Formats: sequence, C-alpha cells, structure tokens
Amino acid sequence: MVSQQPAREQWGSRLGFMLAALGSAVGLGNIWRFSYVAGESGGAAFLLIYMLCIIAIGLPILMAEFTIGRRAQLDVVGSFQSLAPGKPWVIAGFMGVASAFIILAFYGVAAGWSLFYFFQYVFGGLNVAAEGASADFFVNFHTSPIHPLFWQFAFMATVTGIVFVGVKKGIEASNKFLMPLLAILVLILAGYSMTLSGAGEAFSFLFSPDWSALTDPAIYLAAMSQAFFSLSLGMGALITYGSYLSKKEKLPGAAVGVASMDSLFAIVAGLMIFPAVFTFGIAPDSGPGLVFITLPEIFSSMSLGTIYGLTFFFLLSAAAISSGVSLLEVAVAYFMRQFEWSRQKAALIIGSIIFLLGIPASLGLGVWSDITVIGGRDIFDSMDFLASYIFLPLGGMIIALFVGWGWKKADAFEASDFGDTVLGNIWIWLLRVFAPLGILLVFLYSTGIWTF
Ligand code: PHE
Ligand code: NA
Repeated sequence: MVSQQPAREQWGSRLGFMLAALGSAVGLGNIWRFSYVAGESGGAAFLLIYMLCIIAIGLPILMAEFTIGRRAQLDVVGSFQSLAPGKPWVIAGFMGVASAFIILAFYGVAAGWSLFYFFQYVFGGLNVAAEGASADFFVNFHTSPIHPLFWQFAFMATVTGIVFVGVKKGIEASNKFLMPLLAILVLILAGYSMTLSGAGEAFSFLFSPDWSALTDPAIYLAAMSQAFFSLSLGMGALITYGSYLSKKEKLPGAAVGVASMDSLFAIVAGLMIFPAVFTFGIAPDSGPGLVFITLPEIFSSMSLGTIYGLTFFFLLSAAAISSGVSLLEVAVAYFMRQFEWSRQKAALIIGSIIFLLGIPASLGLGVWSDITVIGGRDIFDSMDFLASYIFLPLGGMIIALFVGWGWKKADAFEASDFGDTVLGNIWIWLLRVFAPLGILLVFLYSTGIWTF
C-alpha cells in the first residue's frame, strides 16, 4: 500500500479544478506547437485526424485520468500502486514522471522565447520592415548560445516558484483572469488576420483536405501526438490534478469542457497564424519558429501593433507558465510522497534539474545543431519525439486499458460519475477497445509494419 499524506491540498472551488485543468491544457501546445506541426503536416488532413483523435481517443482517456486521480488521491505513480498494488500498470506512472522531465525541459526553451518576445515588445517591438527580417531576428536570437538560456531560466524560475508555493494558491487565481483574456485576444487577432490577403489560401489550407495526404503515415502519428500533447494527456498531469479534487465535481462535464476549449483555442490560433503565413510569404513548414516569425509580421502591420504584441506575448507566457506548473507538479508530487521531500525541496531540486536538461535542447537548435539523436532529429526534436510521439500515446494506452480492463466496470462507472448509463458504457468500450487499438494502429502504421 501507498501511504496517504495527511492533508492533501485541494482546489478551492469546483471552478478551480476546471480552470486548473484548462490552465494545464491551454498553452504553447495550442499556438506554437499546433501551428508548426499542422504547417509541417499539410494542414486540413492533419486537422481532421487531430479532431478525430481528440474525440475518440483523447476525451475518453482524459476522463480516465480524472477518474484515476480523484479515486486514488495520489501522484501518478502512487495512484497505480494504490489502485492495483503489485501490478505492472505502474509503468505508466514512471513513464509519466519521465515525460514530465523531458517535456518541461524543451517546453521551457520555447516558453523562454515567448518571454523574450514579450520583453522585446515592452521595449518597442521588432523592426520587421525588411523582407525576411522577422525570420532573421528569430534565427539570430534562438541560435545564439547564451541568450535563450537566460529566458529559459527566467521561465523555469517562475514555474518553480509557483510550485514551491503550492499549486492551489499559485495558479487558480491567475488562470481565472489571464486565460479568458488570452482567448479574447486570440479571437481579435484571428479576426484581423482573416482580413489579410492570404486568408482564402489559409482557409483552404486548414479546412479543405488534400485527401491524398491521408495516405501519408506520418500525419497520423503527428496528429495523435499533438492531441495528447495539447490535452496534457498520457503522463498523469491530469491524474495529479484530479487527485486534488474532492467528490463534488462532476467529471464528465469537466472533461468535455477542457477538451472542447483546448481544441477551440487551437483552431482559432490556426485562423490567427495561417492567413498571416500566406500573406507574408512564410513557409508553413518553417518548424518550431513558425509563430515567432509570423506574429511579428501581424503586429507590425497593425496600428497599435506594439501594444497587441506586448499583451499577446505576456498572455502566451502566462499560459505557458500554467502548463509548465502542471508538468513540474507531476514530478514534484511523486518525489514528495516517494522520498518524503517537502514541497519546497522537491520543487527546487527538480526545477533545477529540468532547467539543466533544457540547456542541450536549446543549444541543439543552434551551436549543437549538428548533433542528431533519434532518426536524424536534433536534440530538441528528439526530446519532443521521445516524449510526445512515444511516451504520451503509450502512457495513454496503458491508462485506457487500466480503467477499461483493470477495474471492475461498476467501480469505473461509480468513480467517473457516469454511472451505468449509455454514455458510461460507450466510455468503457472506447477505453477497452477503440482507443488502445487506435493508438496501436497509428504506431504500427507509422513504423510501416502495418499498411492499408
Ligand atoms: N498541454 C500543454 C500545452 O498545450 C502542454 C502539456 C503537455 C502540459 C503535457 C502538461 C502535460 O501547452
Ligand atoms: Na493544449
């Protein structure tokens, strides 16, 4: 058995949990990662598969994570150990903790870029008047060895500070104001962007699929990984957050709320980015720099662009912080229980380690870009590949099988608030068969073992 900690922190209100889970979900994944992955994967076909993955795989597993966390009231490793002592399911817990280290390491690098752009706009913005200037600016910045590390450090220090103080005190309040503001701003910018001359091209890029693209195995894995990454799924972030939840909240409503808000954010972000991509002649497959190259073009073409730029990058950084907090919290909650560390000690030690792990990711885009690790990928992409393409879907598969087959059906119905209803049964069968099989087929298809 796993020992319960005496007084587990809890969310302050029903809304508090929903906001925290949303705060974890909505982040750089929706704007930065979504845009460049969609851009590399051809747009509409990717978006279609992405949405299918959200509904048929992501949503049921999201529910499963909430259910596990609230039932066990423990961190991701402890949850499996207490609900199924001595069983191998706990491997998903350890993979989750490992993913927290890896994802936050490279996430911190990109979040640092966002912080840097914020300060850049505070001091007047970027001069992107010349053609290609915003791309040059980004490349100069992120390939320089030391400069991005400074901002990555600033981001990690903030995230560590919030986890140090305690999740509940640290993030509930900020999510309540900043996330709705980000939503409004992204909507305004999307509205503006759609008046640009490239809007038509962007629309067909995003919404009219090139069906032949569906035979490209790579986009299935890219879309499924993006679904997991964006929903903060498959690594126990939402198990951990669910564990700070008391019995009052109705889980299915919260799960649907998080999944739909997160997807809306991504789609509106696409409407903000791609019209500008086509208007300003930026390549959709520009990679991780895409939004950092595109957005300055939007802002410089707007009146009051500096104000918009400053506000946007402030709010994007805030969204990245609340996602980073949920990543760090997965590891901190585990180390606190397992090694009886204080929250403060765990936050400081793990936050520092993750900062150090992020340094090679940052350098891998610049001075170390010759170093390739997994399949020709640089260090940054390799970390993303290992965590987002392998660990998250695999962890999600284990979580689905665990609730689907490792629990008594009646327990799963009760713990999830579904009860023995039609929806409850659909959920269970999605977990038992559809979601794990879907993940397996995507894995097999993308490795070329299975084709159709
Ligand atoms: N979902 C977050 C985002 O979209 C990133 C994240 C992934 C957070 C995994 C926690 C766990 O930015
Ligand atoms: Na997201």
